[in-house]
Amino acid sequence: MLSFIFLGDIVGRPGRQLVLSSLDTMRTQFQADFILANAENAAGGAGLTAALAETLGQAGLNGMTLGDHVWDQRNFDQEISSLARVCRPANLPERCPGRDHLILERKGLRLGLFTVLGRTFMNMKVGCPFVAADRMLMAMEQKVDAVFVEIHAETTAEKIAFGRYLDGRVAAVLGTHTHVPTADAAILPKGTAYQTDVGMCGPYDSVIGREVDAVVETFLDGMKRRYEVASGDVRIAGTLVRVDAGTGLAREVEPFVLRA
Ligand SMILES: [Fe+2]
Ligand SMILES: [Fe+2]
Repeated sequence: MLSFIFLGDIVGRPGRQLVLSSLDTMRTQFQADFILANAENAAGGAGLTAALAETLGQAGLNGMTLGDHVWDQRNFDQEISSLARVCRPANLPERCPGRDHLILERKGLRLGLFTVLGRTFMNMKVGCPFVAADRMLMAMEQKVDAVFVEIHAETTAEKIAFGRYLDGRVAAVLGTHTHVPTADAAILPKGTAYQTDVGMCGPYDSVIGREVDAVVETFLDGMKRRYEVASGDVRIAGTLVRVDAGTGLAREVEPFVLRA
């Protein structure tokens, strides 16, 4: 059996602090071989820095993915290639720096992982996520015991279709980006664990992590504002997946929420 936990987008200092202080407990409580997280909002709510990636990694986060906020922090494009635990979306243009997938190894178990960006209502120049997934699976063939795929996308239909496309070929397809956990976690007919959105690790007394008033004002008058990261009701939203290491398919999928 191979078990991993995937945590939804880590948002700002509140999300980071709760994740940092909970990693050891989660590993023991869930008996997780690997702990992974999307860290696209870890630095001040937008992007990631090498320093933060190192801190999270040293605290026990085994792998970090990114999403549409991948390049938000200045110079991160210069730093990303030096970060062995971090991968950027696999369907970004090929010339972009950074790893497009990771192969992690612990206790003799090898877990491959990658993330793709959706294309519906996403303002990014990216290739087809379905084709990118095929390419990544080919690159990892014979090299891993299980594969975890993240789809970082806005719409449910694109995420569900993507999950169905990979059903039976990977251990899990879990969604992120909306920052709200969905109640549809299941094992698909051919054995792949699936959930449309894992949610976020951050302040839930907010509009997807940001202070409420400024966001509401912008919906009313259309004017741009600074959206500060909120601070209330901090939670970790994650999903535990247990995988049969022989077949690489899911045995169990269990979303969870931990409060500060
Ligand atoms: Fe996010
Ligand atoms: Fe995102």
